[in-house]
Amino acid sequence: MAIIYTPLNINDETELRSAAYIHESTPQNWDPTYKVTDERILFWVDYLKNILTNEKSFVLLAKDESSVVGLHWLKMTEKYGKPCAYIESLWVHEDVRKLGVGSELKRQGEEWAKAQGAKVITTSVHYANKNMIEFNLKKGFEALQVEMIKSLK
Ligand SMILES: CC(C)(COP(=O)(O)OP(=O)(O)OC[C@H]1O[C@@H](n2cnc3c(N)ncnc32)[C@H](O)[C@@H]1OP(=O)(O)O)[C@@H](O)C(=O)NCCC(=O)NCCS
Repeated sequence: MAIIYTPLNINDETELRSAAYIHESTPQNWDPTYKVTDERILFWVDYLKNILTNEKSFVLLAKDESSVVGLHWLKMTEKYGKPCAYIESLWVHEDVRKLGVGSELKRQGEEWAKAQGAKVITTSVHYANKNMIEFNLKKGFEALQVEMIKSLK
């Protein structure tokens, strides 16, 4: 199957909704009860349009003939006093995993980051998302801090 890699086109509502849906579905990786709502999808559609117009952000899609099968979303920020690319999302559809799509998305994301002047690249991963942690370690990331949270009743 031929997969093409292309930046998200903010004038294409279908692409925008696909990217928004993928991003909003992320918590389902560790919480199967998480509900994706239309309201949240519309929120992300507007958010994506805004950041891709006004900020240093990059949303790269992997597409087959009919649909989006991968997404990589990065934004420029600063970390430890250095220009930094922060990974907002990385996702590959189950049907095309372990075929190199995630690696290609990461490679192109890092090229974009370097072209923006980033000296480091960083991401946050849910502690239960062992797949992503393993994948990132394999790609040269180190684990630094663990974010901790407690519900207050
Ligand atoms: C992690 C993920 C992006 C990997 O994508 P992929 O297209 O399968 O990755 P690749 O095919 O490029 O694999 C690259 C390497 O990582 C390894 N790898 C892939 N998935 C792995 C896993 N679950 N555990 C350990 N290693 C893994 C592959 O074996 C491969 O190693 P190699 O280069 O030595 O052969 C994909 O599994 C995914 O989308 N997971 C869910 C995403 C998610 O939870 N997103 C929300 C948090 S942001």
